[in-house]
Amino acid sequence: MKFFVDTADTNEIRELAATGLIDGVTTNPSLIVKSGRDFKEVIKEICELTDGPVSAEVTALETDAMLAEAQELLKIAKNVCIKLPLTIDGLKACKALTDEGHMVNVTLCFSANQALLAAKAGATFISPFIGRLDDMNIDGMELIEDIRIIYDNYGFETEILAASIRTANHVKQSAMAGADVATIPPSVIKGLAKHPLTDKGLEAFLADWAKTGQSIL
Ligand code: G3P
Repeated sequence: MKFFVDTADTNEIRELAATGLIDGVTTNPSLIVKSGRDFKEVIKEICELTDGPVSAEVTALETDAMLAEAQELLKIAKNVCIKLPLTIDGLKACKALTDEGHMVNVTLCFSANQALLAAKAGATFISPFIGRLDDMNIDGMELIEDIRIIYDNYGFETEILAASIRTANHVKQSAMAGADVATIPPSVIKGLAKHPLTDKGLEAFLADWAKTGQSIL
């Protein structure tokens, strides 16, 4: 399963990229405003922090304007992945861009039929938003499971990019459901490695090691 970091905070990305566990980055207009930085500048910096896909979202609503914005964003770096909303105009732009060989992440997906359309439009990634469905008492993980079945039925190559992940459980359940990628907030990624029994066991090992009076170096 690929891990993308879901943030535009370059300090967080730099720290996590150093672990070697990160395969890409996703941003969206809300994350850009949270960064307080110029959109193109922060995307450029992020593209230098990872070789993986960096999702940069268009803000236009009409296909031709989306394509114009996409051309601007594609100039920033070769690993820019254009993020498009799951609308008819977004799907038309997706088809045009992927036909030209560009990476596209179709976002704001909340139904299996939407994901089916994105795959037919040649999307590189589809971003079903788990957390926002959960917020409405709808099982967001069921959407990941349904998309996996549909994509496997027809051999679609579009990668399921589980998004709107809020908890470590979302990561585990997305992996169980067969998502290809999870885009995860930095705090959740850092929490994945933590377990109190690991800490306790390590403390006990080191306390016993200290009794030997030995050192490895
Ligand atoms: O990648 C999409 C993600 O940033 C949305 O997360 O928590 O705002 O639903 P959230």
